[in-house]
Amino acid sequence: MTVLVLAGTREGREIAAGLATRSVSVLASLAGRTRQPLKAGVPVRTGGFGGEAGFREVVADRGITAVIDATHPFAQDITERTARICREDGLPHLVVRRPGWTPEPGDDWTRIKAEADLAAHVPRGQTVFLATGPQRLDAFTGLEGRRVLCRRIDPAPGPFPHENGQWVVSRPPFSINDETALFALLGVDVLATKDSGGEDGRAKLEAARALGLKVVLLDRPPLPEGARVVETVEEALQWAEGL
Ligand SMILES: NC(=O)c1ccc[n+]([C@@H]2O[C@H](COP(=O)([O-])OP(=O)(O)OC[C@H]3O[C@@H](n4cnc5c(N)ncnc54)[C@H](OP(=O)(O)O)[C@@H]3O)[C@@H](O)[C@H]2O)c1
Repeated sequence: MTVLVLAGTREGREIAAGLATRSVSVLASLAGRTRQPLKAGVPVRTGGFGGEAGFREVVADRGITAVIDATHPFAQDITERTARICREDGLPHLVVRRPGWTPEPGDDWTRIKAEADLAAHVPRGQTVFLATGPQRLDAFTGLEGRRVLCRRIDPAPGPFPHENGQWVVSRPPFSINDETALFALLGVDVLATKDSGGEDGRAKLEAARALGLKVVLLDRPPLPEGARVVETVEEALQWAEGL
């Protein structure tokens, strides 16, 4: 038995390491977009599979008998495709989806379904900080007349695409103090973020509360229909033990 763990998240790293510790044969898979160290001793493959056929090839070549999808809640394409292939091929399959964030007293949150909905919540003349990453920056339409700041990990490939805005290049982790100081320094009025959930990204929400900023959260894409889903690393390890 070899479990393929689709990673790129803290959960993916922990599940792969947990299986290796339990002497379960595991292969971790990373898209290879960012630096994601895995624990020593965990076999890893890096880079896209090259589509559906490539995925099936890896499954056959590496003797994969089950798949744990521990990718990020917003990695919709890989999650949808993997669920479908596993269903079609009768491969045991589990999705690990950490819970989304919930507001606390003092929070001023609004949820949106799509990037294009953000503009309605940022009055002209205000500054919006996009903690959503650069990948879908183009989808935030209608933000003319606002100052747009977008955080990215890697150096900017070129000038900022919005007329009135800039890249903010920095690498996590970010502490509450860092985030508070950054938002104050940049004169942020509205924080926009994906509802990623988890502890690692929470500091920006705490900072927004401390500064009294409005937060706009982008809703998660739906989970694949009929998929078996758990929320924690522990539940995923238990599932694998029962295979
Ligand atoms: N989306 C986010 O906000 C976010 C945040 C933090 C981390 N991540 C991590 O970054 C990776 C890419 O995210 P995304 O949103 O670009 O995904 P995506 O849009 O769902 O997937 C795009 C393509 O990337 C490849 N891919 C994605 N995850 C992979 C994995 N674990 N192993 C091998 N190939 C993978 C696949 O390429 P092929 O078609 O060539 O197989 C897939 O078709 C994911 O592993 C995710 O866990 C994403």
